[in-house]
Amino acid sequence: SDTLRLGIAGLGTVGRGVVRIVQEKAGLLSARAGREVEISAVCARDPARDRGIDLSAYAWETDPVALARRADVDVFVELMGGADGPALEATRAALDAGKDVVTANKAMMAIHGQELAELADATGRCLRYEAGVAGAIPAVKVLTEALAGNGVERVLGVMNGTCNYILTRMQSAGLSYDEVFAEAAKLGYLEADPTLDVGGIDAGHKLAILAAIAFGTKVNFDGVHLEGIERITIEDISRAADMGYRVKLLGVAQMTGRGLEQRMTPCLVPANSPLGQLENATNMVVVEGDESGRIVLQGAGAGEGPTASAVLSDIMDIARGLRLPTFGQPAATLVERPAAMSATP
Ligand code: NAP
Ligand code: HSE
Repeated sequence: SDTLRLGIAGLGTVGRGVVRIVQEKAGLLSARAGREVEISAVCARDPARDRGIDLSAYAWETDPVALARRADVDVFVELMGGADGPALEATRAALDAGKDVVTANKAMMAIHGQELAELADATGRCLRYEAGVAGAIPAVKVLTEALAGNGVERVLGVMNGTCNYILTRMQSAGLSYDEVFAEAAKLGYLEADPTLDVGGIDAGHKLAILAAIAFGTKVNFDGVHLEGIERITIEDISRAADMGYRVKLLGVAQMTGRGLEQRMTPCLVPANSPLGQLENATNMVVVEGDESGRIVLQGAGAGEGPTASAVLSDIMDIARGLRLPTFGQPAATLVERPAAMSATP
């Protein structure tokens, strides 16, 4: 049949959200895609755990590679996490087996994205990862599709919901770091290893991915100058507020005379600016195109519904037959960090 059949690996915060949307919005999805979108099989470590959703209609696997290779799966949806290990192994297996892949795994894409993009090109499959970059915000879509006729001059923004949540709640609710951290965990914002969040690494992964699309370069996470928020104190936040500023973990990627510059560091921004007013887990991505001018995208950067919404965006593109190269152009044409753009003495 023409039904698009999903295999979902990972039934945590994001995976449960995707299952819920496919179940609750089946009619809307099939009307918009022009075909049925169904789940064939799911995978997690513990089949016995009550996940608060009805999974009885689906085949179960505990091995993600087995799920990736199933004959009744057209799209392997990777929602387990981890840059290496089972996520990477199963993604390679899915592409090798001729499946399209949708993932929310920015760590895997930032570190292995080039290899995976080349594999997707070689096997003629799609590899999509909108949910990995700034939650519900369609940042990948805007850069890859809407701004395809632009030279991009700069990409910047707040790209980690946990850090923004911690920084704003400490200031506005006067809560301690530990209290706010516990709230963020409960809301499902944290990475399995939260040092990725507060160390700026997760946001750095997202910036490196956006820079690759924006500038046609190979993803270069090692080239991101990184500093997290672990050393920011409540006193720093209060002193900044007294002077009319907010502390934000801000990422900037731009071409300079020395080539591609990528920075993810805590910055002071004016309290009354759009960036200064970002509350809780909200993210903002700003893209400056040479024809479009400044585009500002703002929305929920983490959590079940917002992240699953972005996963569905990729699934629906595949259901509708939109088959874009991973980073907006064939992987073989992506260049290393470019040499100096102009000869500066
Ligand atoms: P999570 O709540 O920790 O869920 C992870 C799921 O993967 C669990 O169901 C777990 O199984 C399963 N899993 C892990 N290792 C496995 C293995 N070896 N074999 C089979 N199943 C395995 O994580 P999450 O928050 O949903 O995040 C998933 C992915 O989305 C990550 O890449 C994350 O970076 C990304 N992401 C998350 C958010 C967010 O707001 N949470 C936003 C954007 C992107 P068990 O349940 O049986 O343990
Ligand atoms: N841990 C991530 C964040 C999830 O807080 O932004 C969304 O990528």
